[in-house]
Amino acid sequence: MLLTVSKRLEFSASRRLFVPDWSEKENRAAFGPETSARFGTGRNYVAWFIFTGLVDPVNGMLMNISQIKERAGEILHAGFDHKFLNNDNGAFAKIAPSTVNVARELFLRVEERFRGATARLVACHLRESENRSATYYLDGSGDDNYWLEFSAGGRTISPELSVAENERLFGEATRVHGHNYKCRITFWRESLDPKTPPVRFDDVESCLRAIRSELDYRNLNADVPALAGKPVTTETLAMLILERSRSAGPAHRVRLHERDDFFAEAWQDGSVFLGMRMPFSAAHRLHVKSISAEENLALYGKCNNPGGHGHQYRIEATVGGELDRRSGTLANFSDIRDAISSAIAPWENRHLDRETDDFSEVPSTGENIVRVLWPRLDRGVKQQLVRLRLWETANNCFTLRRT
Ligand code: NI
Repeated sequence: MLLTVSKRLEFSASRRLFVPDWSEKENRAAFGPETSARFGTGRNYVAWFIFTGLVDPVNGMLMNISQIKERAGEILHAGFDHKFLNNDNGAFAKIAPSTVNVARELFLRVEERFRGATARLVACHLRESENRSATYYLDGSGDDNYWLEFSAGGRTISPELSVAENERLFGEATRVHGHNYKCRITFWRESLDPKTPPVRFDDVESCLRAIRSELDYRNLNADVPALAGKPVTTETLAMLILERSRSAGPAHRVRLHERDDFFAEAWQDGSVFLGMRMPFSAAHRLHVKSISAEENLALYGKCNNPGGHGHQYRIEATVGGELDRRSGTLANFSDIRDAISSAIAPWENRHLDRETDDFSEVPSTGENIVRVLWPRLDRGVKQQLVRLRLWETANNCFTLRRT
């Protein structure tokens, strides 16, 4: 099992996507119309710094998250926030401050600041708009993400199942209905070349245009020849989009959100996943009995408030397994939903430390909450849980992955 802790920080900057020794035509093909912004154009960036390491058995933390805010905040302040990245940050003198290059540079600068620390920076995820984000990883690989939206309708059914089987598996979704789909296409390079974008703007543009014309405002059961005779499910739709994305570059995976809180993922190695999010609200207090009041305050800060405090937590559970070709599904939507809601039910509207037994021996840190929740939830989804995320606030996220 791999545990990561992620911290979210924001900054704003201007940038021009432009490589000085390329022609105008080459820049335009690689970066699109934005390359013409001679004095830069702006973005409100959101960066996630993702760490891994061992959880301290006494204080229940992988690291003190306020250290990320402090050290990464200094890096952002010095070279990124309210800067014109091309001119004010030497890293972008010869390479374009593209999403993935900014993520890479942030990773390298922040990683330096944590050398020798117990926790290790393993990735930096950077979102620059609703449509674009990127991740740079410790091993030098990178994801370049493009988001696509389309609206489509139809009936969630498999032509290979009987009416009764469809009804049993898909319930209300067998009726005609529609979604505003949001789809993330991830292009991945094993080794990033900072000079050349993982995928060119013009290639992505024509690929997204083709996907839209195939799916947008369509009846998925009747108007999409590629789905004819096949089950129309979120899983099969994600697989189709992944196949189409290959025309633009090294498409690695597709995440298709049918709703904000429900998605399917299709990966290039053939694996398929389903993810669901659900909130729960609880109170808690971070406090360890074996250390002094002063030490508790120094360790946990405001989270040590004697009267407690609380969060509306949000969890995201992702399950894997074998796709059933006949039904086009990985798992039953309502089974996953029921498993998550029964796993969090004992915590809903409770004080985690005072009203449950789960944290009588360990503090109710985010790290411990995901660790306690994992086996409970995994049992409910037939041991198919592959990833469990917990957002304590919009800024702090804890993730457990099956390795
Ligand atoms: Ni808290």
